[in-house]
Amino acid sequence: MQANPPKVTVPDMQRMKAAGQKITALTAYDYPFTRILDSCGIDVLLVGDSLATVVQGFDTTLPVTMDEMVYHLKLVTRARPRALVVGDMPFLSYQAGVCAAIANAGRLLKEGSAEAIKLEGGVNIARVIKAIVNMDIPVMGHIGLTPQSVHRMGGFKVQGKKAGRQPGARERLLDDACAVADAGAFAVVLEGVPMDLAQEISEKLPIPTIGIGAGPHCDGQILVIHDILGLTERFSPKFVKRYVDLRGVISQAVNAYIDEVRTGAFPLDAHSFH
Ligand code: KIV
Repeated sequence: MQANPPKVTVPDMQRMKAAGQKITALTAYDYPFTRILDSCGIDVLLVGDSLATVVQGFDTTLPVTMDEMVYHLKLVTRARPRALVVGDMPFLSYQAGVCAAIANAGRLLKEGSAEAIKLEGGVNIARVIKAIVNMDIPVMGHIGLTPQSVHRMGGFKVQGKKAGRQPGARERLLDDACAVADAGAFAVVLEGVPMDLAQEISEKLPIPTIGIGAGPHCDGQILVIHDILGLTERFSPKFVKRYVDLRGVISQAVNAYIDEVRTGAFPLDAHSFH
């Protein structure tokens, strides 16, 4: 009999980078999906604030609250996944001050049983990362296209393009990456970053980079589960690969059910009690 594979931990992330082993990550928001993704052997499950868009139906990630993040974390961690569970810090749960940031990060671990937290920002948020890490709460950074900054960026746009298109942006992104690593983050998400810059950052940083729309040279990759399964109607960015059309599969099943109930083909004797 094969023993259960060991739990994935924060220090494993560093070991995987050192060994050149790609880190696989997906988002999860509830119990049944967590059971499935974990049984496939995914390394990291992020309870992302993307739940605001793919689960709650908002246009941006801004409205999701701390209470809602904790609730979804509980649904995920109740599945006792082998994967490392990271809880996302929602908009304004960490920007307004270090004390509130520590308290909210602590809630994700204490109430939601997360094993690490993620927050967006670089140089501007390094002080907060350092303070949270000092409380022994592991932090995953997130730089580049940071969805909580959608209004400053004027939309969900690739960041750090070559000089001329966004003057100084590459240098700023390199500074952000170094600031996050120096502040003690154990990994950093690079979102919407040109692949050559993502490669440079991945080679320069001692911590693993997890890419989303950042090309193949990152130490790992993350995508939103609803996007890879074809569950969303929303605009699909270039970096998303849709592995299955689950909307189509679900529609087919539901249409068949409606049809069978209407025609009397369901339920039959086999589905009934005598
Ligand atoms: O909220 C989220 O799902 C994320 C990932 C896509 C990186 O931040």
